[in-house]
Amino acid sequence: MIGRLNHVAIVVPDLAAASRTYAETLGAKVSAPVDLPAHGVTTVFVELPNTKIELLHPLGAASPIAKFLAEHPSGGMHHVCYEVDDILAARDRLKAQGARVLGDGEPKIGAHDRPVLFLHPKDFAGTLVELEQA
Ligand code: CO
Repeated sequence: MIGRLNHVAIVVPDLAAASRTYAETLGAKVSAPVDLPAHGVTTVFVELPNTKIELLHPLGAASPIAKFLAEHPSGGMHHVCYEVDDILAARDRLKAQGARVLGDGEPKIGAHDRPVLFLHPKDFAGTLVELEQA
């Protein structure tokens, strides 16, 4: 059911420092920071030949990643995002198999203007999983 790995998201305490690490130490193509107020994050997109890395930093007091950063002050991997062809069909299949969909179970428009859902990490090997309709 799942398709390509769309991105891996990493929460970082210092976006500029993490951008330099990816651009200079690792030699990757790195975007300028982009504020996404609707998602409570500032993000830097790292373009790799086969996928993307998203460096995330909290934006605003109600940021959904503020608690994660407080618990992981050096930063850490936050979620992986897999592409699906039909997000509603994917959701229904997962729910039928007993997987927990976070929130109200309705897809939201994600950082790439496509519908996304998040799945409970306890059902997926301890990893928060985002599904994005390709
Ligand atoms: Co994501």
